[in-house]
Amino acid sequence: MSHAEDHEGTRRDFLYYATAGAGVVTTAAAVWPLIDQMNPSADVQALSSIFVDISGVEPGTQLTVKWRGKPVFIRRRTPEEIEAARSVKVEELVDPKAENANLPPDAPATDENRALDEAGEWLVMVGVCTHLGCVPLGDGAGEFGGWFCPCHGSHYDTSGRIRKGPAPRNLDVPVAQFVDENTIKLG
Ligand code: FES
Repeated sequence: MSHAEDHEGTRRDFLYYATAGAGVVTTAAAVWPLIDQMNPSADVQALSSIFVDISGVEPGTQLTVKWRGKPVFIRRRTPEEIEAARSVKVEELVDPKAENANLPPDAPATDENRALDEAGEWLVMVGVCTHLGCVPLGDGAGEFGGWFCPCHGSHYDTSGRIRKGPAPRNLDVPVAQFVDENTIKLG
């Protein structure tokens, strides 16, 4: 790839993020002179990653943070929630795909493929209903003990998978990882 093409790619990515939300524009304006020197994937990361301190999140509670203009739910699940999520067979699901940005698109929707850690204590999801984009209620809401979107009645289970109602897809799992035991990086 020539330098000119490379630069154009960088600029397109920048424009995409600049239109994504008012908060991002402010950051982008300040960061742009620096990222102009960097390659496209690095600039996207610089603009879109946040670090979340999860040290105060108790089991059975959820932290909601704003990321790229959307709410992101970070739930520390109880053993009961994990067990309920892991006892469901993929064949029973409306959407059999994990919808996890960290995995290939066809990865199956097992709870193991949606939780952030192996034990399944942490579940990170974009808090936007896949029907028409409302923010679902959490804390054990709905018929499956996970999240419930009251707009048109979509029920999600303790893994954030759609189980009943008009929503077509499981809640999205964003790119996320632990950077240390108290910090999750989004993006
Ligand atoms: S937006 Fe959630 S059910 Fe319609």
